[in-house]
Parts: sequence; structure tokens; C-alpha cells
Amino acid sequence: MKGKIDLEKFLQTRKEVLAAWPTGAEVSLEDGINYHKALPPEKNFAVKLKKVKEEGITAIQPRAGVALLNEHIALLKYLEKEGEADFLPTTIDSYTRQNRYQEAQRGIEESLAEGRSMLNGFPAVNYGVYPCRKIIEEVNVPVQVRHGTPDARLLAEITLAGGFSSFEGGGITYNIPYAKEVPLRKSIEDWQYVDRLIGYYAEHGVLINRESFGPLTGTLVPPSITIAINILELLLAVEQGVKSFTLGLGQCGNLNQDVAALHGMVELAEEYLKRFGFQDVDLTTVFHQWMGGFPQDEARAFAVIAWGAVAAALAKANKVVVKTPHEALGVPTKEANAQGLKTTRQIVNMLKDQRFMVNEEYLLEKEMMKKEARAIVERTLELGEGDLVAGIERAFAAGVIDVPFAPSRFNLGKILPARDDTGAVRILEFGNLPFDSEIREFHRERLKRRGEKEGREPSFQMVIDDIYAIGKGMLVGKPRTK
Ligand code: 5AD
Repeated sequence: MKGKIDLEKFLQTRKEVLAAWPTGAEVSLEDGINYHKALPPEKNFAVKLKKVKEEGITAIQPRAGVALLNEHIALLKYLEKEGEADFLPTTIDSYTRQNRYQEAQRGIEESLAEGRSMLNGFPAVNYGVYPCRKIIEEVNVPVQVRHGTPDARLLAEITLAGGFSSFEGGGITYNIPYAKEVPLRKSIEDWQYVDRLIGYYAEHGVLINRESFGPLTGTLVPPSITIAINILELLLAVEQGVKSFTLGLGQCGNLNQDVAALHGMVELAEEYLKRFGFQDVDLTTVFHQWMGGFPQDEARAFAVIAWGAVAAALAKANKVVVKTPHEALGVPTKEANAQGLKTTRQIVNMLKDQRFMVNEEYLLEKEMMKKEARAIVERTLELGEGDLVAGIERAFAAGVIDVPFAPSRFNLGKILPARDDTGAVRILEFGNLPFDSEIREFHRERLKRRGEKEGREPSFQMVIDDIYAIGKGMLVGKPRTK
């Protein structure tokens, strides 16, 4: 690894970043640092997450964001009070995610004219530092920026100076599932800037949490691929001075596999942190309730939400990101959002003193997953020859890392996942993944069992059936009956 970006170079780039939109002129590092230092510690994301981890509880967090500041504040207050959210989000709108601030501005104006939100999130860059601080001052829990932005440098500058204390994303996870044409090197370097900025805050005594976007495309992503990518983003972040990092995982649906994935991910991440000499990092976990297609029927949607809450609670994830009964329809009302939170709260409370029963299948699952993730990370490090960014770029180009169903043309897209007969996500087509014959045989054997049960060969049709299964009320996609 190459180490922290040189301060002079960072400050030079910073001038260009802040010049991209007028609100950039409001940002001062010194003022941002002083603002954070004056906030009560219970509003700091990293501090509260550390406490949650020590207490062994699973904290709950919604997604939420609307176009107008006062409505956004009212929404967050409602989710804090009615939904009992432990952590709050600010979900950023799609224009801002693509650095299209002019269009976001029109979205704000149209929303004012219509009297309702005409954007799918909060356009933080357009509002600038001081309105962001108003959000932080009006609520009593820490607030995180959640988005999907390949170049989030200006968004980070404004929101962090604005008092937000956690920032989701990463150079891989906010590019590959979100963009088609952004080169990986560009997004990784832009995210190294974000991590360096957070490193700067840390050097001056302010802890900002960084979270990787574990679910990726949200569609049957084999957990070992998620684990490998999380570890690479973790290494990229700590290299720039990030001290609080949250590993993320999307629910797959098989309890053994989900719990094994969360535990295996932490074990492997700790191993790599130790190996590279980063031992002063607070490592935490977030589990995402089902990120694929949801049933339209609200009662069924609550079941999907609850099952995700069970997996998060039994795995003892430090945080769970919650879905709503409106998931199949689009942006939820505040009431539906609070309902998702309450369902989740009820489950995590009921399960907080129960332990997941370690069993043979879980142990095998965890061992295989770690083998797979380790193979990917090791091959990536080899390809980089001491340069992690180059390694990741080459690994994606060669298909050593391959994310299923990703829009990016910098992702090979040769692998195909499918569920086995227990609903665990397996790999049907390996593309160029660097897996040995033992791993390949494990996946083949599991898929064969399903094929026998269903009287069909494992095939692309299974994959299609699986993608729509949960929306239709199942976990494993059933063959169509004629
Ligand atoms: N408010 C609430 N949820 C949102 N999502 C995206 N934007 C918003 C918003 N403004 C949710 C989607 C999906 C996930 C990716 O984020 O409904 O669950």
C-alpha cells in the first residue's frame, strides 16, 4: 500500500473540489472540526456505534430523504420519535449523486412550487453547510449520509462540515452497482479523497464513521464477493486514516449463510487489519434487510422485514438498516417508514438475549466463505504488486472480482449466482473467479441437490426464478408449472 495522500496534494485538489458549486465556499476544515467538537458525544456516530458494540445490541436505522429542508427535518424527527430510530440517515437525491447540482436546484424550486418533494432525497450540496447543521441540531441521535455517489468529494466536504458524523459508500461499492461509465480508478481515487478528509478530521480529534455499501446490486450477490470487496474498501479507508469503519452485508435469506457471512467477514477483516498493521480501528457491522424485489402486499412485506431483523439480531450485527412495507412501491411515507422500524425493534428486543446456535452447516459455510474471499483478496493484492488501487482495477478487469447484475462496464459480469435447495446463494457460473476445485465442487454439489429436487438441470432459468421469488412469496424460485 502507498500510504496516506500527501497533505499538500490533498489541499491542492481540495480547492478544485470546493469550487464546483457555490456552497463549497462555505466550507472550512477548522470551522468543521470546531463544530463537531462542540456537539454532544451522543450525536457522534462513531462514538455511539462503539457503545452499541460494547453493549452487544443491534441498533436500528431507516433510510429517508426529501427535497425540502423543513420537511426533511420533520421526517427525521418523526422517525426518531415514532420509529425509535437509534441512528438517522439523510438519503441524498439522484441528481446530487451524479453531481448534477443545477438539476437538483430545479428540483428544490419545483418542490417549493408543488408543495411536495419532487426529488428522491435531500440535495445537501445545494443547501450547503448551515442547513445541514440545522438538521443535526434538530434531532438527538447521530446522522449519516447515505447515497450512491461515485464522486462524493464535495458532498463529503459539505455534510461533514455540516455536522454529519458518518458517510456511507466507497470507490467500489458506490461505483460498480450505480454507474455504467465511471472508471474504477477515478471512483477509487475520489473516495480516497473522502477517506483522507475523514483522516484529516481524525488527526484533529474528530471521529467520523465510514461505512461500506455491502449489498452491492442487491441481487443474489454471493457473500464471499461482498466480504472481499468490504475488506478492500476497509484497507483503502484505513490507509487514509479512517478510524471507525462499518462492514456491510445484505441479507441473502438463508439464516445459516447470513449469520456465517457476517461473522466470517469480521474474522477475515480483523485478520487483514492485523496483517497490515492497522490495529487502532473500531470495526463494526451493519446488516441490510432484504435488498431485492419485495412483495407488494404489506403483510407479506412485514414478514420479509421481520426475517431480516431476525438474521441481524441473531448474528449480533451492530446495526440493521430497515425496509418498509412500501418497498415495492417506491419512496415510503413517514408512517410506513416508522412501521418498518417498529417491526424491527420488536424483533431485536425479543431476540437480544438469545444466541444463534452454532451448527455444522454454519461452520462449513463460514469456512468456505472465508476461503473464497481470501482467494479473491490475495489474488487482488498479487495483481497490484504493492499498489492496491492498481490491484483492484486489474482484478475487476480480469474478473477476479465480479459482481453479478452490475451495470458498470468495468465489471466483467461473467458470474451467475443461484440458490441451492436451502435457499443459500451459490455460484452457478464462476467466470474468472480465482477459486480452486474444492470450492467449485462445493457449489456444484449444492446446486445439483436443488436440481434433483426440482427435476431440472441447474440453469439460467433457476437464476430468473430466484430473482423474482421473494416478491412472489418464496425464497427459492420454483419452476413454472405449465
Ligand atoms: N427515502 C426512503 N427510502 C429511500 N430509498 C431510496 N431513497 C429513499 C428515500 N428518499 C430506499 C429504497 C430502497 C433502498 C435502496 O433505499 O426504497 O429500499
